[in-house]
Amino acid sequence: MTEVRAERADDVPGVRGVLLAAFGTDAEARLVETLRPGHAWLPDLCVVAEENGAVVAFALLSRIMVGGERGLALGPVGVLPDLQKRGLGSAVIREGLRRATAAGERLVLVLGDPAYYGRFGFVPAAPFGITSEWSSFGDAWQVLALNPVEARYPAPWRNL
Ligand SMILES: CC(C)(COP(=O)(O)OP(=O)(O)OC[C@H]1O[C@@H](n2cnc3c(N)ncnc32)[C@H](O)[C@@H]1OP(=O)(O)O)[C@@H](O)C(=O)NCCC(=O)NCCS
Repeated sequence: MTEVRAERADDVPGVRGVLLAAFGTDAEARLVETLRPGHAWLPDLCVVAEENGAVVAFALLSRIMVGGERGLALGPVGVLPDLQKRGLGSAVIREGLRRATAAGERLVLVLGDPAYYGRFGFVPAAPFGITSEWSSFGDAWQVLALNPVEARYPAPWRNL
């Protein structure tokens, strides 16, 4: 049985193992370990999937600024190699996005394959004028709007 939930303190070594195995380098594990004690870390938005007592998948949403507004970065996302393409990546991402939506978050940015992230509603960020050091990756630099806001026109528009 798979349990998808927020990371707990005793998951930390398992999360590291998942990221090392998924990426084949320690760069993503080090990124997570550097973020964990800092202000960008939002414990409720750090999601793991557990099977048989072991962490098998991980997705992080952490604080970034988008212009002057608060936003979230999605990533890294990793699944143990032997368990990929079974829906675990989707499950931890969807749970993270569900939690972010419930928390009233508005914007999520991700750098990743549009063929994968498009299924969660991500679209290229550049047409919205959102730039970053990842802009040169083209359509891989993506955004998802949660809790959309309403555009309100002044009264004269209603007399058209
Ligand atoms: C990318 C990753 C998180 C996806 O998780 P997963 O559990 O394997 O994927 P899911 O089961 O949720 O989804 C499977 C689908 O995603 C596709 N997919 C998986 N990895 C993909 C990738 N890197 N690029 C594009 N599509 C991908 C599969 O082809 C499959 O497509 P289908 O539904 O059309 O058949 C996982 O494969 C992984 O850990 N990869 C290595 C690390 C990595 O590249 N992370 C992403 C960058 S942060």
